[in-house]
Amino acid sequence: MEVLVIASQKGGAGKTTLAVHLATEAASSRRVLLMDVDPQGSAIEWAQRRGDAAPDVSAIHPATIAREVERARAEGYELVVIDTAPHADSAALQAARLADLVVIPCRPATFDLAAIGATLDLCKLANKQAVVILNAAPIRSRVTTEAAEAVAERGGKVSAVVVHQRVAYQHCLIDGRTAGEFEPNGAAANEITALLADLKSSKSAAPQPEKLTNLKASKPVNTSAKKPVKQKVEVT
Ligand SMILES: Nc1ncnc2c1ncn2[C@@H]1O[C@H](COP(=O)(O)OP(=O)(O)OP(=O)(O)O)[C@@H](O)[C@H]1O
Ligand SMILES: [Mg+2]
Repeated sequence: MEVLVIASQKGGAGKTTLAVHLATEAASSRRVLLMDVDPQGSAIEWAQRRGDAAPDVSAIHPATIAREVERARAEGYELVVIDTAPHADSAALQAARLADLVVIPCRPATFDLAAIGATLDLCKLANKQAVVILNAAPIRSRVTTEAAEAVAERGGKVSAVVVHQRVAYQHCLIDGRTAGEFEPNGAAANEITALLADLKSSKSAAPQPEKLTNLKASKPVNTSAKKPVKQKVEVT
């Protein structure tokens, strides 16, 4: 069984959005359990609107993550996706320790890039491989390439697949669907398919920023995201 942990200490980076999309995409070919470790319960709310359709979704108390992952393994799940809370160092670290891969969504924006060091440090502490997904990226903007460079400067690996800002990612959640179900073969659906495939192979070397695959960069945008702000991870 594989464990994918979606983590970002920054609120609103896109953890739940990516968690439900990746879990649902994977559920087309594997038995998947999505664990919602965030007390906000956003993934659980999505699942309630969704009904019985895969993936299975369960609310997990942070203190019991390890036990629940073992239970999922015993129950025959092939993939567990864990959606974590922001600003939850201890719970995120516990989840990261169980991960085969930590997925870190990050908006290509100054505050998000400044905060990403905390999540990268947490992965280092857990001694786990992490891949940063640039999420909610503007279409046709160099800001994304610049953000990828900024992440690389901070020592993070960046996925070759960029998830762009698309209304499909938001509209679909209203009634418990995913972008692919809301708009089959749409651009968002294709991004998620490509992202899951990239994550499967991302245990090998991560691509460099200039190799981002689904970018349509044209006009220059100044992100002023050059200076890293080191954040300390406090673990209790
Ligand atoms: N690629 C995207 N395109 C459009 N909207 C997006 C995208 N990713 C996330 N959003 C929107 O941004 C908001 C925050 O996303 P989400 O809830 O997934 O973040 P989060 O990291 O789980 O937040 P939290 O830290 O509060 O758990 C939501 O309204 C979501 O619909
Ligand atoms: Mg969330």
